[in-house]
Amino acid sequence: MLAIAILAAGKGTRMVSNLPKVLHRISGETLLNRIINTSKKLNPDKIFVVIGHKPDLVKKSLLNKENVEIVLQEPQLGTGHAVQVLSKKFNNFKGNLLILNGDVPLIRAESLEELLKVHSSRDADVSLITTEKENPFGYGRVFKKDNFIEKIIEEKDCSLNEKNNKLINAGIYCFNCERLIKIINNLESNNNQKEFYLTDTISLLEKAISYEIIDEEEIQGINNRIDLAKCEEIIQRKIKTRHMLNGVTFVNPESSSVSEESEIGIDVIIEANTHIRGFSKISDNCIIGPNTFLENTSIKKNTKVVNTTIFNSEIMDNVNIGPYSHIRPGSTISSNSKVGNFVEIKNSHISQSVKVNHLSYIGDTNIGKFTNVGAGTITANYDGFKKNITNIGEYCSVGSNSVLIAPITLGNAVTIGAGSVINKDVKSDSLAISRVKQLNIDNWKKAN
Ligand code: UD1
Ligand code: MG
Repeated sequence: MLAIAILAAGKGTRMVSNLPKVLHRISGETLLNRIINTSKKLNPDKIFVVIGHKPDLVKKSLLNKENVEIVLQEPQLGTGHAVQVLSKKFNNFKGNLLILNGDVPLIRAESLEELLKVHSSRDADVSLITTEKENPFGYGRVFKKDNFIEKIIEEKDCSLNEKNNKLINAGIYCFNCERLIKIINNLESNNNQKEFYLTDTISLLEKAISYEIIDEEEIQGINNRIDLAKCEEIIQRKIKTRHMLNGVTFVNPESSSVSEESEIGIDVIIEANTHIRGFSKISDNCIIGPNTFLENTSIKKNTKVVNTTIFNSEIMDNVNIGPYSHIRPGSTISSNSKVGNFVEIKNSHISQSVKVNHLSYIGDTNIGKFTNVGAGTITANYDGFKKNITNIGEYCSVGSNSVLIAPITLGNAVTIGAGSVINKDVKSDSLAISRVKQLNIDNWKKAN
C-alpha cells in the first residue's frame, strides 16, 4: 500500500505575499497542482494534502479534488505537527507513506519511484532524498554515520561548523507508516523556531537511510521569490531545449518562454521576447515575434505574427498578423488573410484572403472571403445593453473610417463609401454611402 501526503499548510512568510506559498505558479501552474500531478503518476492508494493557511483559497485552487483528501492543520506548528495531525488518518494503514513538501515542485515521479525502491529493498524506517549543494543555505543539513542518517539539523539550529555540511535534506521522505505513527507524537519543539520538525523523526527512528541524487535542480525548494524565479528558469530551460532539439529556432532563448503544454512544429522561428502560454500549437515554418504573446492559440503553417497579443484563437496558414494587433478570444483568422497594425479583433470569424490592415475594431463579426476592410473601420457592436452581430459578405470593400452599427448585414460585393455611418442592411452588389455632403465655397477669404 502507498499513501502520499503533501505538506501545504504553511504561510510561506519568506515569499512576502498575500497568497499562500503553494499557490504561487511556475510556468503557469501552481506549486501544489504540480506536486499533485507528479504524485498521481505513482498510482498511490491515497493522496492527502495538508492545508492550513488560507484553507479556502488553497482548496479552491485544486484540480481533480475528487481524488485528493484534504486534512486541515490548525494552527500550523511545523512540518512535524502537520504529520501529527495527518497521522490520525492512519490508524490501520500498513504500507509506505511518501511525504512531500509542497514547495519542492520540480521533483520527478521517476525519482520518487527510485526512493520507494531503495526504501523497500533496505526495509528502512524512513528514506529521504538528499543531495550535495554547493550553496546549502536555508536547507536542513543531513548528518550520516556509517550507512545511516543520524540526524538532520535545520539551518537555524546549526553551529558554524555544522553549516559547512553540504549534504541537504530535500524535504521528500518515504516512511514506514506504522513505525512513524509510533514515534510521531514524541517530537519536541525545543529549537530556534519553536516548531515541531518532521526532520526530528530521523533521530527517533532506527533505520534512516538516504537516496542521494545528483541532479539537484529537481529538488530546488521554494522559500522566496528568488527560488521561484530559479525554478521557472529551470523549467523554461528544459522546455526550450526540448523544442530546439525538435527543430525550433529561438533567436534569443533567454527572453522567451513556452508553456509545457504547448506544441511547436519544425522550422518555426521564435523571435526575441515572445511568450507562448496555455495550450498553444504552432505548426511548421511560422515566424512568431519579436514581442509577441500567445495564449491557448493555434497557428497553422507559414504564418507570421509580429509584435502581437493573441488569446484563445485560431489562426490558419499563410496569415500575416501585426505589428501591434490584438486578437481576443473566440476569433478565427483564415488562410492568406492579413491583420495589420493597431487592429483589434474579438470573437469574430475572418474568412480567407481578407485584409484588415490598419486601425480597426472588429467585434462579434463575420467577414466573407476576399473582403477588404479599410483603415479605421469600426464595428459598433455594443448598444449599451448587449453585443450585436455584424455580417460582412464576400468581396466587399469597406471604405476607410466607416462605422458599421450592429446588428447589421452587408451582402456580397458591397462597397461602402469612406467615412460612412451605416445602420441599415446593404444588399449584394450595392454601394452605400452615408456622410454629410461636402460644401465648397469659392473665394471664401475675399468675400469676408
Ligand atoms: C524544510 C525542512 C528542511 C529541508 C527543506 C527542503 C523541516 C523542519 N525542514 O525546511 O530540512 O531542507 O524543507 O525544502 O521540515 N508546512 C506545513 N505545516 C507547517 C509548516 C510547514 O504544512 O506547520 C509545509 C509548508 O507549506 C511547506 C513545507 O511544509 O510546503 C515545508 O515547510 P517550510 O517552512 O518551507 O520548511 P523549510 O524551512 O523549507
Ligand atoms: Mg521550504
